[in-house]
Amino acid sequence: MDTLFNPFSLKDKVVVISGAASGIARQCAISCSKMGARLILLDLNGVGLAETMKLVDSPEYHFYSCLNLLDYDKVSQVIKEAVNQVGKINGLLNCAGISTTNLFKITKPEELDKFFHVNVYTAYFLTQECCRVGNWAKEGGSVVFFSSVAGNLGEIGKSTYGMTKAALLNLSKHLACELARRKIRVNSISPGAICTPINMNLPHMKDPEKRAVLEAQHLLGLGEISDVANACIFLLSDASRWVTGTNLFVDGGYSVK
Ligand SMILES: NC(=O)c1ccc[n+]([C@@H]2O[C@H](COP(=O)([O-])OP(=O)(O)OC[C@H]3O[C@@H](n4cnc5c(N)ncnc54)[C@H](O)[C@@H]3O)[C@@H](O)[C@H]2O)c1
Repeated sequence: MDTLFNPFSLKDKVVVISGAASGIARQCAISCSKMGARLILLDLNGVGLAETMKLVDSPEYHFYSCLNLLDYDKVSQVIKEAVNQVGKINGLLNCAGISTTNLFKITKPEELDKFFHVNVYTAYFLTQECCRVGNWAKEGGSVVFFSSVAGNLGEIGKSTYGMTKAALLNLSKHLACELARRKIRVNSISPGAICTPINMNLPHMKDPEKRAVLEAQHLLGLGEISDVANACIFLLSDASRWVTGTNLFVDGGYSVK
């Protein structure tokens, strides 16, 4: 048996991860570093990013920048600097995002604008900048957009968030067509409820009855951040070299019914 055979290896792949100061993206950074990737970590939370840098393997190989992705002009500059330092890009996890629960009848246009800007436009323009000729490696690679079960299915109070996540599902399919000739694969991932530190402090997670209802909606119970990170490793690695334009549910069976 070839003990070195590992189709999931990310050795020497350069991976950009947005939202890396917290939650799922932080775990993606840790797991990708363990799989051998060199990282470009972005987030507006500098303190959280510095904490992530303490947790990744071989921090000296990686680049990080405290960046608000809404500052579109700065994104270009930061990516250029990162590529000069770390190398041309093979992968991108568009993980940064914000979530809300708000009722349709009281939602204001400014709120919709804010959610579309943070969840959709930042991912669109970060992807555009990363895929600019000169930034992306010639051999191609993989882009992942973070959708959600709420982008695929209905839920009370999730229309604003869900619409932004549905937009990312559709964007990934169009970009899969546009970028295939450059061997850049584009997929989305749709997590169910994940036990992140932020989620664990939400009132409905602290209430045992409400938590039990949420758990029951997921056939395998609530997810861990490593469940999503492992799925991202698959999508970033050569193990998924023939996978593009698809949406991967990582939801413990939430979407089955
Ligand atoms: N946690 C879940 O249960 C869950 C379920 C489905 C989908 N998701 C999606 O997964 C992704 C990560 O979720 P999480 O729970 O880890 O979130 P999180 O709140 O822990 O992390 C999101 C990160 O994005 C960063 N960010 C937000 N706006 C930014 C901006 N303008 N510029 C730069 N950085 C910005 C934040 O600073 C934060 O560090 C999100 O896109 C979320 O919608 C999460």
